[in-house]
Amino acid sequence: MKKSLLWILVLIFVSTIVSFSLAQSNLDVGIVLPTKDEPRWIQDETRFNDALKTAGYSAEILFSQGSSAKEKENVEALITKGAKVLIICPHDGTAAAASADEARAAGIKVISYDRLIRATEAVDYYVTFDSIAVGEAQAQYLVDKATGTGNPLYLYAGAATDNNAFLFFEGAWNVLQPKIADSTFIIKNSSEAVALQGKSTLIRDEMGKIIGQVTTNWDFTVAKNLAEANLTIAPAADKGNVFILAPNDGTSRAIADAFADDNDVKSYVVSGQDAEIPSVQYIIDGKQSMTVLKDVRTLVSDAIAAAVAYLNGKTPEQTNSYNNGKIEVPAKPSVVVTVDQSNVKAALIDSGYYDASEFTGLQ
Ligand code: GAL
Repeated sequence: MKKSLLWILVLIFVSTIVSFSLAQSNLDVGIVLPTKDEPRWIQDETRFNDALKTAGYSAEILFSQGSSAKEKENVEALITKGAKVLIICPHDGTAAAASADEARAAGIKVISYDRLIRATEAVDYYVTFDSIAVGEAQAQYLVDKATGTGNPLYLYAGAATDNNAFLFFEGAWNVLQPKIADSTFIIKNSSEAVALQGKSTLIRDEMGKIIGQVTTNWDFTVAKNLAEANLTIAPAADKGNVFILAPNDGTSRAIADAFADDNDVKSYVVSGQDAEIPSVQYIIDGKQSMTVLKDVRTLVSDAIAAAVAYLNGKTPEQTNSYNNGKIEVPAKPSVVVTVDQSNVKAALIDSGYYDASEFTGLQ
């Protein structure tokens, strides 16, 4: 046999062994997060990396960059690498069902992380914050700052593909609706919400109609354009001292900037969520009113605890369950904390969540 042919055979043999051992590699946990474009998910990545250093299990984190197709590729890559547990925060809760099904078929435990995967039986567990409480905290803040009647209210929501957007809105509606009914607030930017304002609870389809009108899609540009469009149509009488339900920090900053730029807006109270570093700075500077701290360290340690339980043939702790349209998924929701100028230092700096050097103007 020619020497070169022999070499080729040796190379083929070696590369087969290498790819076989990669496929069978010792990956314990595969983690898939939705995007690097929002500070929220960078927080999760950082906290996962911190926690994994001490957990003693092998793990790999992949990002889906707002694409369900990329997310599916990520899941398939982790399956090929031999992951035994998948921790996945879906970009689109319903589209992710196919990935969950594939993981289940490969014998992998599926943990839905922060956002619920819908319309499949292939979800073993859901680690989450109490998302209804998030919406209630946002709305309660607006209620607490409002006096008298006739206060203009502008509603904004998250992406309709994200189950959480419904939970946040449901929580907000629980608190706002009685205050709309008693005329404390007047809704200014959603005819669908006005049509439903007499109803104290809304079914998913009804919320879907409102969210369809006021969605930000979790996108800063969409949020800014929508707020500007709302302000362009609104007469000066619908501005003045306004109240804004913004679903999270990124959209809150975008919406707050748009309202701050309008000469007919005298003051605004705007909600947020996630305690993102740029929004904490906005709160210190008086440009965003509040945020809801979801301590990502808790979520990460709950997710790792659940993964470790599965790796050891056990079942993670359950205190609650969430219906995903197909099954009741066992869950253990964590508490959330309202943060504004009055407690920003205590809640986020003194607690060790962030370093003071990240911010300017802290008192
Ligand atoms: C939600 C998540 C929030 C926020 C939002 C935008 O599902 O719970 O914390 O980050 O997505 O990404």
